[in-house]
Amino acid sequence: MSSKMFPILEYVALLSVILFQLEPRIADSNNTVMKCIDEEREALLTFKQSLVDEYGVLSSWGKDNDKRDCCKWRGVRCSNKTGHVKVLNLRRSDDENSRGTVLKGTISPALLKLHDLRHLDLSNNHFGGSPLPEFIGSLSRLRYLNLSCGTSLLKVPRPFQYLSGLVYLHLENSNLFSLGSLHWLSHFSSLRHLDLSYINLTKSSDWFQVVAKLRSLKTLVLHSCALPPINPSSIWHFNLSTSIETLDLSDNNLPSSSVYPWLFNLSRNIQYLNLGFNSLQGSIPEAFQLMVSLRFLYLTSNELEGEIPKFFGKMCSLNRLCLPYNKLSGDLSEMIQNLSGGCTMNSLEGVCLEGNDITGPLPDLGGFSSLKILVLGENRLNGTIDKSLSQLLKLESLSLGRNSFTGVISETFFSNMSHLQMLYLNDNSLTLKLSHDWVPPFQLKSLSLASCKMGPHFPKWLQTQNQLISLDVSNNGISDAVPDWFWDLSIELVFLNLSNNQIRGKLPDLSFLRYDDIVIDVSSNHFCGPIPPLPSNSTFLNLSKNKFSRSITFLCSIIKNTWNFFDLSSNLLSGGLPDCWLNFDSLSILNLANNSFSGKIPDSMGFLHNIQTLSLHSNRLTGELPSSLKNCSQLRVLDLRKNALYGEIPTWIGGSLQNLIVLSLKSNNFHGNIPFQLCHLAFIRVLDLSLNNISGKIPKCFNNFSAMTREKSSNPIIGLADKIWIFPRYVYRYSYLDNVLLTWKGSEHEYKSTLGLVKCLDLSSNKLHGAIPEEIMDLVGLIALNLSRNHLTGPITPNIGQLNSLDFLDLSRNQFSRSIPSSLSQLNGLSVLDLSSNNLSGKIPLGTQLQSFNASVYAGNPELCGLPLPNKCPDEESTPLPGRNDGANTLEDEDDQFMTLGFYVGLILGFFVGFWGVCGTLMLNRSWRHGYYNFLTGMKDWLYVTAALNIAKLQKFRN
Ligand SMILES: *[C@@H]1O[C@H](CO)[C@@H](O)[C@H](O)[C@H]1NC(C)=O
Ligand SMILES: *[C@@H]1O[C@H](CO)[C@@H](O)[C@H](O)[C@H]1NC(C)=O
Ligand SMILES: *[C@@H]1O[C@H](CO)[C@@H](O)[C@H](O)[C@H]1NC(C)=O
Ligand SMILES: *[C@@H]1O[C@H](CO)[C@@H](O)[C@H](O)[C@H]1NC(C)=O
Repeated sequence: MSSKMFPILEYVALLSVILFQLEPRIADSNNTVMKCIDEEREALLTFKQSLVDEYGVLSSWGKDNDKRDCCKWRGVRCSNKTGHVKVLNLRRSDDENSRGTVLKGTISPALLKLHDLRHLDLSNNHFGGSPLPEFIGSLSRLRYLNLSCGTSLLKVPRPFQYLSGLVYLHLENSNLFSLGSLHWLSHFSSLRHLDLSYINLTKSSDWFQVVAKLRSLKTLVLHSCALPPINPSSIWHFNLSTSIETLDLSDNNLPSSSVYPWLFNLSRNIQYLNLGFNSLQGSIPEAFQLMVSLRFLYLTSNELEGEIPKFFGKMCSLNRLCLPYNKLSGDLSEMIQNLSGGCTMNSLEGVCLEGNDITGPLPDLGGFSSLKILVLGENRLNGTIDKSLSQLLKLESLSLGRNSFTGVISETFFSNMSHLQMLYLNDNSLTLKLSHDWVPPFQLKSLSLASCKMGPHFPKWLQTQNQLISLDVSNNGISDAVPDWFWDLSIELVFLNLSNNQIRGKLPDLSFLRYDDIVIDVSSNHFCGPIPPLPSNSTFLNLSKNKFSRSITFLCSIIKNTWNFFDLSSNLLSGGLPDCWLNFDSLSILNLANNSFSGKIPDSMGFLHNIQTLSLHSNRLTGELPSSLKNCSQLRVLDLRKNALYGEIPTWIGGSLQNLIVLSLKSNNFHGNIPFQLCHLAFIRVLDLSLNNISGKIPKCFNNFSAMTREKSSNPIIGLADKIWIFPRYVYRYSYLDNVLLTWKGSEHEYKSTLGLVKCLDLSSNKLHGAIPEEIMDLVGLIALNLSRNHLTGPITPNIGQLNSLDFLDLSRNQFSRSIPSSLSQLNGLSVLDLSSNNLSGKIPLGTQLQSFNASVYAGNPELCGLPLPNKCPDEESTPLPGRNDGANTLEDEDDQFMTLGFYVGLILGFFVGFWGVCGTLMLNRSWRHGYYNFLTGMKDWLYVTAALNIAKLQKFRN
């Protein structure tokens, strides 16, 4: 049940209202459909002209003789009596075949000529922010208006007051401007369905009063409207007790104080209540028990605490109880106990409690005989799960992933689960012992058994599961080859994760996979041979960390594709990079690192207009950087380290790639000066130019690296964190995190998932000369600064004490002179310091942590004295210490390891991908929340029960 579902069912219901009830049908003696009126045909054709119809949705609309009757055009219905167009329904349907068949363009005022238009539905199309046409307000006979189609509502739609006969109104906004007063709505006395989701109502402080005046309202959906908190003094107005059956105020960040006071006033007729993605706190309020008709309760992602109250056990209509991603705690057995004992046991078909803090073993759920959906993932449940579910004969979806369940699961566990379609047992400590010839009683659509120790053989029983659309058997210790039958089976798959096993053999031709938006992850296995043909309609392909070999020039035979993420890193691939990237312009992440690719970076990489992460490091690439790369203006991570690239550092990097967060040119043959244009990289957090032949002075403008001048970082994650795809039937969620690895003398400091917090500047091992510009001391966010192995001179500025985030500081092997500033000791977080081999002199500032470092840190500065060095300063008594040469010895040892010394910034590109959005932590960014909302409330495969409700609803409307 969802805001998405309502339009469909109400559409049918209201269509009958509009066409039959408002104008009772007068029998047409000839019973033929009236031909359309010329003027209206012309109007519709004008309307069509302003649309962009790439997919020929309106191909039946035309001027040819056989098409003249506009009443037979797609989406058009005329009155049988008058011939006037009454219905224009160009809603793009939700089913997967219609994906892409979207209408764009603008909405022409020619529609005004359709004087008798009652029903206008352009929903699910995308008018790309074109303004919501005001003329719509003049279509005064409209009863049904659905414009959730990506238009922009720029101001209060004044003319809408003429639409007061509307029964159904669904608008949507694609910009972030807020709408003012909703007073114009208060005259819409016939309104039954109002959906203003995604319209910013922050400034509509009267929404509450206006809505209360709409006495016919049955459905109110204000999802993600940035609703202002409700003024407590107006709460007594909120009396919807007679009409409202469906209320969705989700994703408005409403606090408890805005919601709880009026919950008690809510209609006894309310059937569907969604208050998810708000800020409800405390225990679950008693008010729910007054909602005697309540069937669907969604409180996803609030901050609710405590247990499930006992009254839920006596709500005889309760069908779905969804409380995922709250702070509920306590023992599951007690929660289930509270739901037991009353009539709820018979009505309850779905319980979703994932992402809480629920503990204990899985209790016996046998009494809940209607249960179809049980989602308990991401809690702290433990114990075994072998017996407690065996009586749930209707179970369709079972998710127990990401808990601490233990034990062995055998075939008998599943013997009664003949309706099971979705099974998630991933990431527990379970062992699945299923015999080779097992024939399961179910046909699954979605299966995740990640980390279930099923290996070493590829599970043969999967051969019986020929309806799978999603399969995750990653990290199962499987060391077989993938059997041939599996690839026959997988034709329906849209999500396949075989990663982190030891699977060997070759991959077959995968281009046969027929659905759109496929996700394939076979990374970290022993696959070998050439990269096979890949499906062009995929979004996410990860073949990294295998033994694939040979060249990848075959990519040029893939003409058009929808690839978003392509990772071939850490294989044995060789040859030149293909030069046909024009076909790959949907890529946002391309990782070809750690192979043996040679030759130049091809010019056509400049066609990767959407690329955000380009990683080509650790190959044998040579030549200069092609200037076409300046077209890749979305680039955030450019990692070219460890190649044989040469030339000067191009000035356009600073001019055109201004979104760069990470730039690594380390270990190449770049020469010349550091161009001052590089200072335009305001977002840069990791700049690594080390191990090149760069000369000249350090530019004075490095303080323009604004991200480095801030100590805290607002967005700690780089990469495509929690990107969500929502397709009619599938939700994918993936994160691709660019992590940083800092290595110092062999010890690694990994900054997991928080690359955004790491700020490094590494110019070491070049030929830079001159002093350290004072401006570098403004980079107070720096965690690592490496200027070692250059020809830098002058004193170490006392301002170095400003860099108080520093963890690593290496100034060794330069010609820095004078004394060590005492401010250096203010760097409390400093864990690694190297000042060796300079011309520093005088006394090491005393009484500070500078004494806690090893003497080698200061070695090779003949005129430096004081602890921890063995040589005392002239003003001190000289008592020769044993081991006087220790420091020097260390230095020599280290000399041999020149290349491993120093600090090393490595990027680890890691990713996470999940299906259905249920496996993984919930990140509360806006797009993810929307995805999750739609997923939880709108997915057909997930919410099987909705169909039954729709039918019930439909019948109600007809009565
Ligand atoms: C029925 O059809 C005949 C000819 O086919 C026409 O003359 C007549 O007007 C039509 N009647 C109606 C009510 O449309
Ligand atoms: C008009 O007549 C056609 C053909 O008989 C019929 O299918 C359709 O339902 C009628 N439409 C209305 C609105 O009565
Ligand atoms: C809503 O509009 C207000 C002001 O018009 C703006 O500050 C706010 O960011 C907007 N909220 C959203 C979620 O777009
Ligand atoms: C389950 O976890 C609790 C602590 O949360 C512990 O006391 C109990 O022994 C565990 N039970 C099993 C069967 O591991």
